[in-house]
Amino acid sequence: MERRSFLNTLFIASAGLGLSQNASAEIFNKSKQPPFRRCDFSVDDNRISYFPEGLTTPLKIIQISDTHLWMDDMRGEQFIQYSKRMSKAYNVTKHFRTGEPLNPVKAFEEVLDMAVKRKADLIAMTGDIFSFPSEAAIEWVYEKLKNTGIPCLYISGNHDWHYEGMEGSSQSLREIWTKKRLNILYQGNDPMMASYKLNGITVLAIDNSTYEILPGQLEFLRKHVREGAPFILMMHIPMFAPGRSYGCGDPSWGAKTDTSFGLERRERWPENGPSQVTLDFHREVFSAPSLLGIFAGHIHRQTIDMVSGIPQFTADANATGAYLEIDFRTAKD
Ligand SMILES: [Fe+2]
Repeated sequence: MERRSFLNTLFIASAGLGLSQNASAEIFNKSKQPPFRRCDFSVDDNRISYFPEGLTTPLKIIQISDTHLWMDDMRGEQFIQYSKRMSKAYNVTKHFRTGEPLNPVKAFEEVLDMAVKRKADLIAMTGDIFSFPSEAAIEWVYEKLKNTGIPCLYISGNHDWHYEGMEGSSQSLREIWTKKRLNILYQGNDPMMASYKLNGITVLAIDNSTYEILPGQLEFLRKHVREGAPFILMMHIPMFAPGRSYGCGDPSWGAKTDTSFGLERRERWPENGPSQVTLDFHREVFSAPSLLGIFAGHIHRQTIDMVSGIPQFTADANATGAYLEIDFRTAKD
């Protein structure tokens, strides 16, 4: 299948599975009156089951984060000075369950096979799929996804667009590489923000891989909150939660707490800490009445936080074979 027709297939598949925002809201409003009430969920190992009242069609999402693929070819030779450290970072890993030796290629293939077997409706990739923007690795992922036939979502992580030591601000380097090599994974969507409507649930993907939120992304969130349809939020870096020493919107984030900029050879985090837009985004996310949950990665551990009644999950690194299986189940399910 040609690239263009593959993209069309995915787009059509997504549209066919989904409903309009209004239709999505109607599904939930048939069985209960506004204001919207968040639904129950349970967690069993790496399977999260939501039980939205009035949902008529189940939805299964497989979330993959932090695979850290590092394969490269001749085209990457001129970038070796920037890819050297990360190309050795995840060569051999241990399986998150068995402890057996593993590697990112095998780990990614295994989770795609599982997604096909379990008939997933969406594969959601939440960043650091790559350890640097290697053309060979990006093309390999594209082909693998194409072969699954499953609609997919991709949002970048802080390593996906980072060649260590390359000159430029984090924001400018992200803009360059998401528009260049990573572009094929976005299927024509804006790399910074996109929404997918699937079986009555809206999935928002927002790129916060610089730890910061852009004004347009805050407006994008507000638009979806105003519409009132139930949604989940997918991003690379988890939102700051009380007790955590990391996160997007962490008031202590900034130059003083940046201990890795030398090792990662990147721009240091700003002296003044997070922008007002990022802090506003954090506050508004955790007061969004129709937000069912946040799904992130980045920290390479599986965690759950609850902030103002809104759950946030992080997926363990797929470099170790890990993933999250997120089910939205109907009453009959
Ligand atoms: Fe990572």
